[in-house]
Amino acid sequence: MSDNEPKIILTGDRPTGKLHLGHYVGSLRRRVELQNSGQFDKIFIMIADAQALTDNADNPEKVRQNIIEVALDYLSCGLDPEKCTIFIQSQVPELYEMTAYYMNLVTVARVQRNPTVKSEIQMRGFNADIPVGFFCYPISQAADITAFMANTVPVGEDQLPMIEQCREIVRKFNAVYGPVLVEPEALIPETEAAKRLPGTDGKAKMSKSLGNCIYLSDSPEEVAKKVKGMYTDPDHLKVSDPGKVEGNCVFTYLDAFCTDEHFAKYWPDYANLDELKAHYMRGGLGDVKCKKFLNQVLEEVLEPIRARRHELEQDIPAVYEILRQGSAVAQSVAADTLGKMKDAMRINYFSDAELIAAQSEKYQAVD
Ligand code: TRP
Repeated sequence: MSDNEPKIILTGDRPTGKLHLGHYVGSLRRRVELQNSGQFDKIFIMIADAQALTDNADNPEKVRQNIIEVALDYLSCGLDPEKCTIFIQSQVPELYEMTAYYMNLVTVARVQRNPTVKSEIQMRGFNADIPVGFFCYPISQAADITAFMANTVPVGEDQLPMIEQCREIVRKFNAVYGPVLVEPEALIPETEAAKRLPGTDGKAKMSKSLGNCIYLSDSPEEVAKKVKGMYTDPDHLKVSDPGKVEGNCVFTYLDAFCTDEHFAKYWPDYANLDELKAHYMRGGLGDVKCKKFLNQVLEEVLEPIRARRHELEQDIPAVYEILRQGSAVAQSVAADTLGKMKDAMRINYFSDAELIAAQSEKYQAVD
């Protein structure tokens, strides 16, 4: 990225469910920090409904219902429509026009090599029955990014192949048609816990389909219940037994969320997480106490989010209005980029006076 290039962020989420703590540590918390850092000229946050439809074509109602959930989650975490543009992907049709042109620059073999697409195809059990739209979503994702001239794309590690594919499309476009597009860089989470917060069952990632999530919109009772049932160390049977902290959800979550101030406030017996871990590993510390502390830590994070969400829920039309205005802004930016692309591709026939004059001359000469 050169120094004088404006710093522009684009990122987004598929609206297929409410957002959970995994989204929070992996992306939302960071987005709010980036937003408030004042270091970016523009920030675009996209609700990727059209991408969600690529494998939910028969269930548009699910996508439709979850748009407002994701928007409420965004706003309640502190994304501020004064500082960033929150918009809905399908309301920016230019993205699909761009996608169509990018499709000519990418081979089927190249998409098939994309590791994220590969594993998603496997997960969903697709063969030749894969929807073409789903297969091409890395290409449409390149449109999402380039339409806004974004150079910074905060995403999870699983999205790195998408960014790489986007960079290739940018290089190809610029080489063939001229330097119009900007090559983006991914910004991935810094810590292990932020990269993949395990589900409450200790399994891989927090994911809706596994039913192991703590949602940002869960009530305090739901959170407490989920923390109580959380997977710990299955061999830690008696309080006096030494316990393991690796693979123990309670400690993974504490790694992601707790600070020394939390100890000072709720559990002054320990100065920090290292001291707590040492005691747990030595033996003599029960899961119940650790879970109680974790619940207090999580509530400190979730309480303000929940309160803000509750406020926003009182005026849903205002939330749709934020999305409508954001979509209008996004649409005009994308139209501007598309215009530049079409100029470079020399397919802006009606604004190409030179072309019209030359064609006219050709036929005049014949007479
Ligand atoms: N694929 C992303 C996800 O599943 C969502 C997304 C769509 C996105 N377009 C994007 C993310 C562009 C970053 C940039 O979460």
